Amino acid sequence: MTGTTSRDTEVEGVEGGVGVTALLVAASRAIETHRHDALARDVYAEHFVRAAPASAAWPVRPHQVEDGDANPLWGRFARYFGLRTRVLDDFVLRSVRKGGARQVVLLGAGLDTRAFRLDWPPGCVVYEIDREGVLAFKHEVLDGLSARPRAERVTVPVDLRADWVAALAGAGFDTAAPSVWLAEGLLFYLPPVAETYLIDTVDRLASPGSALAFEVKLERDLLEYRDSPLYTATHHQIGIDLLNLFDLRPRPDSAGDLAVKGWSTAVHTPFDFTRFHGRGPLPEENDALEGNRWVFADKPRQ
Ligand SMILES: C[S@@+](CC[C@H](N)C(=O)[O-])C[C@H]1O[C@@H](n2cnc3c(N)ncnc32)[C@H](O)[C@@H]1O
Repeated sequence: MTGTTSRDTEVEGVEGGVGVTALLVAASRAIETHRHDALARDVYAEHFVRAAPASAAWPVRPHQVEDGDANPLWGRFARYFGLRTRVLDDFVLRSVRKGGARQVVLLGAGLDTRAFRLDWPPGCVVYEIDREGVLAFKHEVLDGLSARPRAERVTVPVDLRADWVAALAGAGFDTAAPSVWLAEGLLFYLPPVAETYLIDTVDRLASPGSALAFEVKLERDLLEYRDSPLYTATHHQIGIDLLNLFDLRPRPDSAGDLAVKGWSTAVHTPFDFTRFHGRGPLPEENDALEGNRWVFADKPRQ
């Protein structure tokens, strides 16, 4: 069992701390890829999982999951990540195709392989922001597979608790052109002040016609769910104590803040998309997903 029992914010790579959560999502995507009714496919995901000592023994196929779909971690939670991947794939492709943006910024990109998987229109640039150790591991694995991105891909190694604007600008991001931003599975790991800075900064850097999707958790006290099957299974089966990695302080109202800044916002539960796609997690008792919301925001053209 891999231990992440203290809130180790200084671990840089995927071997522990918050970086290991990128492997959790990758393993979930690997399993999703091989479901007969997959919502998203990521052929790179299993290679990340196998390459990292922390996750080398985790399942990457549905038949390797003990109890199958009844397993709270590799069944329901993994399906949640599969659904989230699909919904944000659809959002980002819709935004570049219809909205015309050609810059995509993945905040806390982790092992997201959208730059390699999606069918991008010509001229797209995908900026991937994460900490240096995570991006170095990702590079090593993708390089070993001779993977070729389907858009221009620019990695930006920087900590999102610091001032990351200079790093993104230095990487070539153009504030005069519209952009699409994703913060997928990220904000609840950041201090509230870093979340506020991130939302304010996206507003500042995003020209009219830009779009942003992000995930938040609305529960006032996440510890009330400490005995939920999802958190306990994640802790017991792979040693990741998510509640220890989340920043438990009261969160800002980021969707509300964007609305005040003039963005149009839509807030959905994941279950809305389960119903839309006909598969995915549904509400249950003592549900750690109860407060999860996916927020879709557009900055109107003037
Ligand atoms: C749960 S993973 C999600 C990764 C990716 N967005 C996905 O959905 O596959 C969270 C990611 O956020 C990154 N992250 C967390 N805190 C960060 C910080 N302060 N600066 C940069 N990245 C951070 C982690 O390294 C990790 O890759």
